[in-house]
Amino acid sequence: MSLQIDLAGKRILVTGASRGIGRAIAEALLSAGATVALHYNRNADGAQQVHAAWPETSILIGADLSHSNSTTQLFHDALRALDGLDVLVNNAGIAAEMPLSLETDQWEHAWDLTMAVNLKAPALLSRLAVKHFAGDGGGRIITVSSRAAFRGDTADYMAYAASKGGIVSFTRSIARSFGREGVKAFLLAPGFIRTDMAQDAIDLYGEDYVMEGIRLPRLTEPQDIAPIAVLLASGLADHATGCTIDINAASYVH
Ligand SMILES: NC(=O)c1ccc[n+]([C@@H]2O[C@H](COP(=O)([O-])OP(=O)(O)OC[C@H]3O[C@@H](n4cnc5c(N)ncnc54)[C@H](OP(=O)(O)O)[C@@H]3O)[C@@H](O)[C@H]2O)c1
Repeated sequence: MSLQIDLAGKRILVTGASRGIGRAIAEALLSAGATVALHYNRNADGAQQVHAAWPETSILIGADLSHSNSTTQLFHDALRALDGLDVLVNNAGIAAEMPLSLETDQWEHAWDLTMAVNLKAPALLSRLAVKHFAGDGGGRIITVSSRAAFRGDTADYMAYAASKGGIVSFTRSIARSFGREGVKAFLLAPGFIRTDMAQDAIDLYGEDYVMEGIRLPRLTEPQDIAPIAVLLASGLADHATGCTIDINAASYVH
């Protein structure tokens, strides 16, 4: 059997497509023929580089996902610019350091910001996507959670782990509730991936810490995640709806 994936005609919104995992996913989707709305926040240059490589099949949309209004606007802008939507990729996220020693108001601020970007924003986008997909013949949601959702994280990143756990149960609820309307929802749960976010952890704890438990000879790269997103977007794996795909080089098996 030969398996070829052609995403021509698929309209996809990828949040956080300016760098790291989101950029690798966006580039893989574009390589497979999809039309992609490349979302960015501060790093317009990174998103612009992707757009420059696929000028005919990509568009750029900036939005700060810590604000609900911007998040909602992003969805409507993407829907209008793409003239519809087939797949939503919730990738953008932050890992805010928040040791217990922080003053309560600083700790609470880090908690609120983490929940806004990592949990509320993908929930708002998913809600709008479900409503759109249910009235438009179906669609797919791919949300990037984390290994931290299942094993927890260090004391410095408790909000991060909680936000990633929250989006798992939210996304599974979508898969359970709206499958009959054609909505499929999947989760990716990476371990450490070599990006700016992982670099922050490397700076804090050292390279040995991020390699701990990894059973392959090198740290996972964003390009190691992207093909799975292409497969899920294609529809070839729809009966895996509700699943979480672990991508952590066997560092955590649950
Ligand atoms: N790297 C890892 O080890 C790892 C492990 C497990 C899960 N993950 C998850 O994978 C996803 C991508 O992580 P990454 O490692 O690629 O991170 P990254 O390199 O730090 O990139 C983060 C992305 O999120 C966007 N973003 C951040 N804050 C935003 C905001 N307020 N509004 C809108 N967009 C915002 C950034 O946009 P701009 O650059 O334009 O500002 C950027 O595109 C995240 O959900 C993360 O939790 C990462």
